[in-house]
Amino acid sequence: MNNKELTERFNKVYVNAHSNMRASLDSFGQRFFIARAEGSHMWDADGNEFIDYMHAFGPNILGAHNPEISQAMIEFLQTRPPMIGGGALFTPEDVELGERLVKHIPCAETVKLNITGTDAVQLAIRLARVYTGRPRFIRFHDQYHGWADNTMGGRYDENAEGRPFALQGHPDDYRYTEGKAPGANEQSFMIPFNEIEILEETLKKYGDEVCMIMMEPLVLNHGGMKPYPGYLEKVRSLCDEYGVVLCFDEIQTGFRLDIGGAQAYYGVTPDIATFAKCAGGGLPLSVLAGKMEIMKLIAENRVLGPGTFNGFSLSIISALASIKIMERDDCAVFKQLEQTTQYIKKGLLEIIKRRDLKIGIQDETGVLYPIFGVDPDFVFYFDRDLKLDKSSGIRFFQELAMRGIVIHPDGRFFISTVLSDEDIEKTLEACDDSLGAMF
Ligand SMILES: Cc1ncc(COP(=O)(O)O)c(C=O)c1O
Repeated sequence: MNNKELTERFNKVYVNAHSNMRASLDSFGQRFFIARAEGSHMWDADGNEFIDYMHAFGPNILGAHNPEISQAMIEFLQTRPPMIGGGALFTPEDVELGERLVKHIPCAETVKLNITGTDAVQLAIRLARVYTGRPRFIRFHDQYHGWADNTMGGRYDENAEGRPFALQGHPDDYRYTEGKAPGANEQSFMIPFNEIEILEETLKKYGDEVCMIMMEPLVLNHGGMKPYPGYLEKVRSLCDEYGVVLCFDEIQTGFRLDIGGAQAYYGVTPDIATFAKCAGGGLPLSVLAGKMEIMKLIAENRVLGPGTFNGFSLSIISALASIKIMERDDCAVFKQLEQTTQYIKKGLLEIIKRRDLKIGIQDETGVLYPIFGVDPDFVFYFDRDLKLDKSSGIRFFQELAMRGIVIHPDGRFFISTVLSDEDIEKTLEACDDSLGAMF
């Protein structure tokens, strides 16, 4: 059965892709059905080979079936079912994992497990409301916190009169969805990232309504936009001043930048934080980590966060095996990731300069973003003046896919620990040819 036949059958039974974010869908000219994967390589139903920089949108940072993770899961399945009990029964490995999370994540005095990132974010919002007694949270333009009504879509409304609610239904908003519950938009204010005066002004006017600031500390959902030097520290101190809970959404940055996430990487500790993606060693698992005085609302049953598959046992086994690998040799994995990231970045910049192209490469450990239409030494902090050229990102994705390289459909490269020198060489060659075809 080849990709074409599988596509026809797929389209008869599935209404769309399993994760149907508008931008991702636009990128795929065809569907790929992966028949086999090994390390950094995947083979589709037609026998095409790909080097994987998409990582299933993030989780597969250690590559396909890492032998230690696979072995731990096989041994577990030989003795117990994939799920033990969620709320009532546990495995000894639950304890081992929890101890490691608390050890490594700076804000984690205690943790709670769910399945998806969306779950963890919603629980964080609920906790912050009860902890502060205030109704609304602040989120940021072009960040993403899952698909629930109160976090999905919206744009900063520069002309908002009064409370800065997100503008809905803007044609540039590829995260806009119809069908949200009435009032969902009024649960949050939306402001631009990195513009501290606007945050300060918002808190000055409406701080007594704000329970929480929810932010991607490094905006991996938007061009890898970096926090401006000193910005996170200032946000931290504003939260203290106004009694607002600071939540870092580390669902992208967690276990990628550092074993302790962006909060360890940047040295700014939030009150609570959400993790998913890389946290589960490739299996679904999300973590809400935070200060005891907030999290204890769960122990007191004032805040509920149930879910049949919360703390999915097999995911705990894979998460534990994955964290043990990450801990090894003083967390050498992250130094390796940084070296590989910088090596690929250097190669890309050489190509860009040789071809005299206007493309910058935004980077942070384990992730690279080509930014089209800017000088090669450009660093992306403020998005007000720069409309990301998404269509070039999509075209780059398509050109690379034809040459055996799969990146994230928005143009980003997730870097794994299993890339060989040969993989990187092939990748750079494919980038050179793809950019040659594009410009
Ligand atoms: C920063 C961030 N938060 C939350 C989510 C939602 O996580 P999930 O897709 O597991 O629900 C995502 C997903 O991409 C994310 O990138």
